[in-house]
Amino acid sequence: MEINPYEKIWIGITIAAVIFMLAAITLASFGLGASLPGAAGSVDPRILVQQPPFNTPGLFQLSQGKYQAIMIASAWAFNPNTMRVPVGSEITFKVTSRDVTHGMLIEGTNVNLMILPGQIAEATHKFNKAGTYLFVCHEYCGTGHQTMSGKIIVTP
Ligand code: CUA
Repeated sequence: MEINPYEKIWIGITIAAVIFMLAAITLASFGLGASLPGAAGSVDPRILVQQPPFNTPGLFQLSQGKYQAIMIASAWAFNPNTMRVPVGSEITFKVTSRDVTHGMLIEGTNVNLMILPGQIAEATHKFNKAGTYLFVCHEYCGTGHQTMSGKIIVTP
């Protein structure tokens, strides 16, 4: 079979592009630790309010500069919806839903979670810059969806 020289060049470019992209994915996932947030556990949404840790939602300090936010999303609010930490703090968010599917996106960060009833979503972020970080529900969850938000105040 005869292949046109131009076609050979394009075959070469295509193979190189595929190899480059596979290498980029491999480097990102294994070298840089980029990954999608996975399910961090499950919980029965019917008895959520009695079950630790979701019986006491809030922001808890684990150690110097490390916090854990235990959060419940429900139509149409986050509990807690305002959190305050000093700059440089690392917060691990554990979030679940009491009713329908919600979302949680914190502006200016990589935190972007799907909040499903029955599932616990988890993400960690270190807040290295002072300011107010708005977080919103980004899954349509009913008539009050657009009001479902909160903020993290990072103080200097
Ligand atoms: Cu919750 Cu949209």
